[in-house]
Amino acid sequence: MYYLSIKGKQKLKGSIRISGAKNAALPLLAATLLSKNRVNISNIPNVVDVKTLLKLLDNLGSNSNIKDGIVSIDTTKVKSACANYDIVRKMRASILTLGPLLARFGHCEVSMPGGCAIGQRPIDLHLKALEQMGAKIELKQGYVVAKAPEGLKGTTIIFDKVTVTGSENILMAASMAHGVTKLVNVAKEPEVVQLCEFLRDGGVKIDGIGTTNLTIFGSYGELLDMKDIKVIPDRIEAGTYLCAGAITNSKITISDVNPKQMESITLKLEQMGFGFEMGENSITLLPAQKISASDIETSEYPGFPTDMQAQFMALCTQADGTSVIDERLFENRFMHVSELTRMGANIKLKGHSATVEGDMKLIGADVMATDLRASSALILAALVAEGTTKIHRIYHLDRGYEDLEGKFSALGANIERLEE
Ligand code: EPZ
Repeated sequence: MYYLSIKGKQKLKGSIRISGAKNAALPLLAATLLSKNRVNISNIPNVVDVKTLLKLLDNLGSNSNIKDGIVSIDTTKVKSACANYDIVRKMRASILTLGPLLARFGHCEVSMPGGCAIGQRPIDLHLKALEQMGAKIELKQGYVVAKAPEGLKGTTIIFDKVTVTGSENILMAASMAHGVTKLVNVAKEPEVVQLCEFLRDGGVKIDGIGTTNLTIFGSYGELLDMKDIKVIPDRIEAGTYLCAGAITNSKITISDVNPKQMESITLKLEQMGFGFEMGENSITLLPAQKISASDIETSEYPGFPTDMQAQFMALCTQADGTSVIDERLFENRFMHVSELTRMGANIKLKGHSATVEGDMKLIGADVMATDLRASSALILAALVAEGTTKIHRIYHLDRGYEDLEGKFSALGANIERLEE
């Protein structure tokens, strides 16, 4: 087991390259189960979640290799349609194999994903939509057992809640369904849009891409002729590094990003007093005269992303004044609060809202990572804390941040990975 040791009070400077988006790479990899040919997916981030999904796909019978951020994968020999618990429990996004496996084979068994630190994470909307498409769904010993021997049928599906992986699962299922599927209240995240483009370029007619209503003209069980694709930049990794620059009030540049997909993040930083130099694929953060407090409410894209909530909470401890953060998507996404409090933050929780006192002097401490984004918030706090902070259980970070200490070191942070 390893931990990160970070010496605080270090200004940052310089520029780093942002990796491909984990949450775009995962659905794209799952979608290759619908492909009649080998596909190359480039700009794949070297993170544990991607490795876990590739292991699952290979367990199912696919043939894949990864070199220099390019995954080459051929799923034509996939026979098994059972995604076992041992892998799924490590990564809930494995549920993304449910839609494609069912659409392709007419039956599959996928382990129910466990909950996780940020909430119960149900999949009822995924299952309800598949049933509306004619699937028979049973839950047996922790597995979703799904059957659709005559194939899935196109229909109209209204999602009661906006669900990112739910939208992605049903998108993939509808792509090989018999007939036309209309989806209402679909997630509009850039990662969902890229999956639509991947399927469209594979021969599936999809109307409404980028909107909340999609019409998908299924292939009647025909495998797709998928084309190579490059994963979009990771807007959450990018936002995390902008917050690192912001909390240390430094000038830093991030490259290989899409500024248009980060507007809710950059607008919030602007409200807090920071400036920007925007390039076509780069963003330079300019220090603030004074970091102002700001209230935040998380919501679905293009609103403020829940995956940036923990990072902004760390930043708000350094702002001038009190900030109120309202977490609207997950019922338990405040695991970072107790750890930030141990470093000297003053944060009051009431239901799904947190009141964060500003101008707090943080002191380095031993803290524990609990989930991917909460862990990144602890790094941000450590950058401004007095003394050294040790962050334990950093396997959470390795799931979604590529070369974390390499990138932070390149920006001048005093950070190293040590053995417990
Ligand atoms: C995706 O998770 C992301 N993961 C999450 O990122 C992200 O936080 C989340 O979307 C919200 O943006 C991936 O894309 C792999 P949801 P997902 O289904 O799809 C409720 C990270 O750090 N819901 O959009 O699982 C659910 O409980 C991760 O990279 C149901 O009630 O999230 C939540 O309250 C963390 N029933 C809300 O909807 C369902 O069937 C949004 O969840 C599905 C979801």
